[in-house]
Amino acid sequence: MTMKADERLNIDNNEDSLEWIVEPLLMWYKKHARILPWRKNHNPYCVWVSEIMLQQTRVEAVIAYYNRFMKSFPNVRTLAEAKEETVLKLWEGLGYYSRARNLKKAAEIICEKYDGVFPQDYKDILALPGIGKYTAGAVSSIAFGMPYSAVDGNVLRVITRLNEIEQNIQNEKFRKEIGNRLEQVYPKNHCSEFTQSLMELGAVVCLPNGAPKCEECPLNTKCRAYKNDTWQKYPIKKEKVERKVIEKTVLILSDSGKIAVRKREKTGLLAGMWEFPNVDKKFHPSEIEAWLQKQNIDVICVEKHKNVKHIFTHLEWNMHCYKVDCKAKDNIYQWVDAEKLNRDIPLPTAFWKCL
Ligand code: ADE
Ligand code: SF4
Repeated sequence: MTMKADERLNIDNNEDSLEWIVEPLLMWYKKHARILPWRKNHNPYCVWVSEIMLQQTRVEAVIAYYNRFMKSFPNVRTLAEAKEETVLKLWEGLGYYSRARNLKKAAEIICEKYDGVFPQDYKDILALPGIGKYTAGAVSSIAFGMPYSAVDGNVLRVITRLNEIEQNIQNEKFRKEIGNRLEQVYPKNHCSEFTQSLMELGAVVCLPNGAPKCEECPLNTKCRAYKNDTWQKYPIKKEKVERKVIEKTVLILSDSGKIAVRKREKTGLLAGMWEFPNVDKKFHPSEIEAWLQKQNIDVICVEKHKNVKHIFTHLEWNMHCYKVDCKAKDNIYQWVDAEKLNRDIPLPTAFWKCL
């Protein structure tokens, strides 16, 4: 799998093969791998679900979600047959809810197209909804022992530090090149451990926040960042885009102990999740009554509650919350008690914070 010279990015210091990292990493992993629920076996379904959960979320936060998910949906078929709402409820608080919707969609496809058996072919895996190169590589190597790399932030941090690589790690071409370089040295009978050892080193030794534990690192003998004490410079990320701030008014409407909720649109931000009545502007308190009146809701009392900030990837909500006692006639909302809200309604963290 050698690349032509013109396909290569000009990566400083990085002409040497990564072959040398394989042995020390595997030895280290054997001894130091954390015991995690998805490492008990290498069932592709378990590996897949865990990798999707781990994509934007830390291991410690994922464990409880993962265990609950597996209890409710122990295999592809149970997930495919579940209600989307039930899957979203189990995902509540993890964020990036399209991950959950895609998991379910992919499970349906696996049932229809592959009779419920997770496909082994890399291209078939990659074609499933919500599965990109990272996840396809992780499942192919961890579950099926194939020599495919899975390049995530952990791996990029380790590799850019090892060789003091000055490239922007957001650059897709660069990530691909790192993936190719790794695939050239994948150890045939230990693909699963090699993928995991790279991620693991990035997660527990070559740390993302704060100083890496270089003294404990099996790669410190040849690490340029260690030798030159330059770890702070790597990995290089291009400037973050500025988030748009949206002022919102959020209303906690309550009528005889029940609270108003509604389902969001099928597409866009927080698709398919539920919400409290809200508008994308900052209401003057006097506007609230008129707005509700138009929806057939009589206001008894409006009380300023709190202001809540919630940050998404590309935007930020500045939510001005009000508690409203009201009498509702025929209207567009569902009115639920606290128990139903807790048990059945997938409400994003942004709205839980408003309560
Ligand atoms: N981060 C992403 N995938 C992981 C895994 N399989 N184990 C630990 N941390 C991870
Ligand atoms: Fe990271 Fe330090 Fe290991 Fe280099 S020696 S890979 S900087 S932990």
